[in-house]
Amino acid sequence: MWSDNVSFVNGELHLSGIPASALAREFGTPTFFLDEVAFRVRAQAWRDGLHSEFGDHAGTIYYAAKSFISTAVAKWIQDIGIGIDVCTGGELAVALSGGIAPNKIELHGNNKSVAEINRAVSIGVKAIVIDSLIEIERIAAAAKKLGVRQGVMVRLIPGVQADTHEKISTAHEDVKFGFSIASGAAWEAVLAIRNYPELELRGVHCHIGSQIFGADAHELATNRLMAFMARYRDEFSEQLPELNLGGGFGIAYLSQEKTVEPQDVLPTIHRAITKACTDYSLDFPQISLEPGRNIVGPTTFTLYEVGTVKNVDIGNGNIRKYVSIDGGMSDNIRPTLYDAEYSAVIAQRTSSAPLVNSRLVGKHCETGDIVINDIALPSDIAPGDLIATPATGAYGRSMASNYNHVPRPPVVAVKDGKARVIVRRENEEDLLALDVKE
Ligand code: LLP
Repeated sequence: MWSDNVSFVNGELHLSGIPASALAREFGTPTFFLDEVAFRVRAQAWRDGLHSEFGDHAGTIYYAAKSFISTAVAKWIQDIGIGIDVCTGGELAVALSGGIAPNKIELHGNNKSVAEINRAVSIGVKAIVIDSLIEIERIAAAAKKLGVRQGVMVRLIPGVQADTHEKISTAHEDVKFGFSIASGAAWEAVLAIRNYPELELRGVHCHIGSQIFGADAHELATNRLMAFMARYRDEFSEQLPELNLGGGFGIAYLSQEKTVEPQDVLPTIHRAITKACTDYSLDFPQISLEPGRNIVGPTTFTLYEVGTVKNVDIGNGNIRKYVSIDGGMSDNIRPTLYDAEYSAVIAQRTSSAPLVNSRLVGKHCETGDIVINDIALPSDIAPGDLIATPATGAYGRSMASNYNHVPRPPVVAVKDGKARVIVRRENEEDLLALDVKE
């Protein structure tokens, strides 16, 4: 759950040798602390894993920007030499601000605006992943106007039910994304794309969902996508060069869970592709993936400070200790939205006090503002204690809100014993910046 450079020294959490108490003093709480070395190691592991598994058939690792992006992170992505998946003009702007080359960018989205499409085509992104029939003509029109040929992929729905929370499962039939293979919509999309000489269909894409363990769902999706590629080859006597299987590789949020590593899934995916190549007499395609959570999630913990502690009588002689921290659903909406589970420790000290039935809650005016529903915490936990929740790097800061006009926390990158702010804390001025005074 903790990133590589987290250690506990005399009960105090340290990141790259810096104690939690010093981090809190310098940067305040709540704050996301990101282990930059771990980020680079994880991104490189996917890059190198893809290359060693697939050799000449390795396509691109596209880091999913939605999990967390900032200008600094985009710069690391550029250094590491992988690509990036953006799904809005905003994410595209940050990728460009970090210096990522357009030929390393793919644009996703089920409702890309015409302005987003025009910008993507005009800067020459590597691929636009087509999600609806309507956007085919929009992309073609943009390309025609600029006199360019735009690379596109087609997002397919293989009808796979991934074993994850319903709200983050994306490849079953009744879903807003992509084109169903089974219903014939996918084939219709391919025919429509082929009507436009301005569009170069580079391959097929799917993303089956998020926080998935094992490779079974990816394996099944691979087979269905490759059957589709075979149909294309049979019809048009040419093979689509690329197969992009999306992201979704799970991480550990709790001590009994295990983060998926590239070597855990790539060989299975490889076998599935090899088998499909034999079954359908296809040439081995270029393989691309889009991990987001798996790269950034494990690199970050959130540091909070306890403000109040309250023992609540919950009946039958039972007490629940409500421990309130200085953030909550505005910096981690995942427990409320997906029943996501997290763990937590007191970060600046050990305690030998007995563990008691507790609930870690935020500071928002809402009963559902719960970070951890059930957690055993030492009975002597008190205001001023620091609490660290691991594995908050993905979909934490990126889904943060200003609910209750709480300023969003900063992100501090720590590397080789040095900490620096890469996204600053919002302040009262930021909160008022959009209000028009009359
Ligand atoms: N590619 C596509 C097309 C996607 O839609 C996504 C995530 C990814 C890649 C990256 O998935 P990852 O490797 O990070 O699992 N907010 C939710 C997750 C939503 C994911 C949406 N799409 C959460 O906090 O769990």
